[in-house]
Amino acid sequence: MADYDYDVLVIGAGPGGYVAAIRAAQLGLKTACAEARETLGGTCLNVGCIPSKALLHASELYEEAHSGALAKWGVKIEGATLDLSTMHGEKAKAVKELTGGIEFLFKKNKVEWLKGHAKFAGKDAVDVAGRTVRAKNIVIATGSSVTTLPGIAIDNEVVLDSTGALALPQVPGHLVVIGGGVIGLELGSVWKRLGAKVTVVEYLDQILPGMDEEVRRESAKIFKKQGFELRTGTKVTGVERAGSTAHVTVEPAEGGPAEVLEADAVLVAIGRRPNTDGLNLEAAGLRVNNRGQVEVDHDFATAVPGVWAIGDATPGPMLAHKAEDEGIAVAENIAGLTGIVNHAVIPAVVYTNPEIAGVGLTEEQAREAGEVKVGKFPFAANSRAKTNRDTDGFVKVIADAKTDRVLGVHIVSSLAGTLIAQAAQAMEFGATSEDIAYTCHAHPTHSEAMKEAAMAVTGKPIHI
Ligand code: FAD
Ligand code: NAI
Repeated sequence: MADYDYDVLVIGAGPGGYVAAIRAAQLGLKTACAEARETLGGTCLNVGCIPSKALLHASELYEEAHSGALAKWGVKIEGATLDLSTMHGEKAKAVKELTGGIEFLFKKNKVEWLKGHAKFAGKDAVDVAGRTVRAKNIVIATGSSVTTLPGIAIDNEVVLDSTGALALPQVPGHLVVIGGGVIGLELGSVWKRLGAKVTVVEYLDQILPGMDEEVRRESAKIFKKQGFELRTGTKVTGVERAGSTAHVTVEPAEGGPAEVLEADAVLVAIGRRPNTDGLNLEAAGLRVNNRGQVEVDHDFATAVPGVWAIGDATPGPMLAHKAEDEGIAVAENIAGLTGIVNHAVIPAVVYTNPEIAGVGLTEEQAREAGEVKVGKFPFAANSRAKTNRDTDGFVKVIADAKTDRVLGVHIVSSLAGTLIAQAAQAMEFGATSEDIAYTCHAHPTHSEAMKEAAMAVTGKPIHI
């Protein structure tokens, strides 16, 4: 250690970086974490997962109270009104408590927070806000940032990125969302529930790329029923700010007549790009791939010994829990243990209502790989969902036709995000559909739909 300031220096304190730093320190390594933001927690805690889920929760409460939806249960609320600044205040409290919690965990575990922007000064040296530190191991966990369309400038007043859309001071009359992916649908849901008309413009012919086709179709049906205008197969060719509004020019993706949508706010949600510019990777002898990502091997090691990378800055889904698991694994590998992430079993959840969740292969991917059996069970036949008057969606279990091993599970349901954990655990344990079908599930719960979908793989569900 004589020559080094630290055993491990992590760059970035998002879910990947802060978890890597804490685990490295727990394993007895002298650890520091460089973070340019004023608070720890990265995109996820500051401007991502946490504030978006706070607004999704709050807007759902408002909608339930305001729309009269509770009246069918005899709960009559008259004159429910929206106090948006209180809603933002509660969101800010959640963010502050959680980011402060990471600061506490750093202190508790003796992780040193180096405040400021970090860039490589060599293979084992990094400049952080003018100070050069040397570390035996350096973990790149710099995450990702918003991408915009060429020629469209984000001003976060009228033309917004996700951060702007989490902080709007008033409900826009008409919100045009560019991109029918996760951010577009989650934040579109927030403002729709709070009273905006929401139009989603998606280039592809279906929303939610990458998800199971049947799930994509079912979700689109539900969003339309909720009043979203979904303009799929449509591209945006320009956004022009006009005072406090914007003109969004769209045309069919395959070409055709243009049309102008008048918007009070435009959310650009067409994906994110890794934060690898400005890291001076050349000084470490590293190069990025053509998507700007740092390539890693199975152990999260880069091409340069002693330099590692995890999370959104590397290939794979841009998800907080993927980054966290990689954070633990990379620290364990640095410490000489065996850190592994099973990238075949990473759940993904869209926190709309209903939620949309999946793990493993989509039906299309599974069929391409071999012969499969598929079991499906609708929530319309699940007693708890029926009791709660909450019957949108289904569970689909995809199993290998020969071995019965579960290859993928996809769920549309108000509780999909919670239910998918069971599927991920079953798959991690190499479960068959029969294993799930013969596991006792409590009654009455939404989880019984998972059991019944597994029973349907062999064509023998009870309640349908
Ligand atoms: P990040 O969280 O991006 O953290 C990287 C950190 O590194 C940042 O704080 C940055 O300031 C810092 N940094 C970068 N470069 C430097 C440098 N050179 N020097 C010092 N510091 C640097 N994922 C989910 O799983 N569930 C969700 O519900 C969810 N919701 C989301 C909602 C929104 C609106 C957004 C935008 C994203 C959401 N995500 C969600 C994605 C999730 O936020 C990311 O996948 C996750 O944060 C990635 O973690 P990370 O550690 O790789 O990077
Ligand atoms: P995304 O990749 O989910 O969706 C972007 C959408 O924009 C795609 O459907 C794409 O086809 C469309 N698109 C691209 N260019 C377009 C154009 N020119 N015109 C119209 N549509 C266009 O990206 P998004 O929603 O920005 O989210 C970024 C990342 O953040 C995602 O990778 C996601 O993993 C992560 N995230 C995760 C959440 C979760 O786990 N619940 C919540 C929010 C974000």
